Amino acid sequence: MKICVTGGMGYIGSHTVIELIKEGHEPIIVDNLVNSNPEVLNRIQKITNVKPKFYQIDVRDEEKLDDCFKQEGFDAVIHFAGLKSVGESVKKPDLYFDNNIGSSKTLLKVMKKYNVKNIIFSSSATVYGVPKHVPLVETDPVGQAANPYGQTKIEIEKILINEAKQDEKMNIVLLRYFNPVGAHESGLIGEDPNDIPNNLMPYITQVAVGRLEQLTIFGNDYPTKDGTCIRDYIHVVDLALGHLAALKAIKENWGLKIYNLGTGKGTSVLELVNAFNQANNLNIKYQYGARRAGDVVVNYANADKALNELNWKATHNIVDMCRDAYLWQKQNPQGYKK
Ligand code: NAD
Ligand code: UFG
Repeated sequence: MKICVTGGMGYIGSHTVIELIKEGHEPIIVDNLVNSNPEVLNRIQKITNVKPKFYQIDVRDEEKLDDCFKQEGFDAVIHFAGLKSVGESVKKPDLYFDNNIGSSKTLLKVMKKYNVKNIIFSSSATVYGVPKHVPLVETDPVGQAANPYGQTKIEIEKILINEAKQDEKMNIVLLRYFNPVGAHESGLIGEDPNDIPNNLMPYITQVAVGRLEQLTIFGNDYPTKDGTCIRDYIHVVDLALGHLAALKAIKENWGLKIYNLGTGKGTSVLELVNAFNQANNLNIKYQYGARRAGDVVVNYANADKALNELNWKATHNIVDMCRDAYLWQKQNPQGYKK
């Protein structure tokens, strides 16, 4: 299939592009590089021997997107493009609404014009808000957004749900990711945050290579087994394969489908640090600090629906995730910026 991959130069998108190429698809990347680096294309080529076609376009730019769709004749879209920093979204909510919701609306408009009926969207476990219970199932209610970033995911889901109601020929898959970590096993591509990482794994890997001095664990007095928060970390390659499984499952008149992509296992911050040390024979320096405002205490998925309907399940464990994340960082201590 010829697939438009918006945000395909980013962390999850680039890993998915590799798996798409491996499966014989033709991914075409649409990305404005606001949070990614052109070097990603060379790395994809190194891994797959294919340099995917790349349009440097802002998805909000209807004219350019229209041209791209006219030229390419896509079978499906995987829509990763979006801004994803929770902290930045609190400071610049309008930017997040405009970029994330605006780009999704423009994309849908152009898809309609060119009769592209299949779309997979990167949603997030953040749409559940504060979980009333774990594991989370897809039928659990969408909660109160904790921040403008989360609000954009809820709004885009609503727009897509509405679209599926209006056009029964549309096949729309909302994939709710839990916590993507790790990197391609080659260590050639990985997560490359601008500035100081907000997320746990890239913070740990930067401590490991000496870019940061020590990790601060945000709170050790939570009501969990070791007092630190629990998340469902999922290897980014498993996540990428989830998109391939969804693509394979799409059939005519499928309508709207929603799946959690997680491992179904909760891991505490302290357990992740210990696994990282074990996987890489290191001793990450850390201290305990205050709780981070707005943190959910325990969050993990029930991923049975994806197993039953997509025949997909995560196969990498926490140690694999830690090993691959570190290999990427060790080989690229400054990320894609040499
Ligand atoms: P990323 O920032 O690495 O990738 C996103 C890509 O989209 C970047 O290459 C960026 O340049 C591009 N982009 C942003 N706005 C654009 C626009 N208007 N036009 C064209 N390109 C644009 O992020 P990621 O971690 O790969 O996340 C991919 C998607 O998955 C995002 O929608 C994100 O919200 C969602 N998601 C991520 C996580 C996570 O923890 N990484 C969790 C849940 C959901
Ligand atoms: N943590 C630390 N120290 C750090 C960074 C994080 O102790 O330096 C802790 C956090 O307090 C949390 C855990 O590590 O307990 C995981 O934090 P992340 O920021 O890595 O992940 P979150 O689950 O908090 O957030 C992620 C994405 C959000 C998304 C959310 C729900 O970053 O974009 O999952 O899907 F909204």
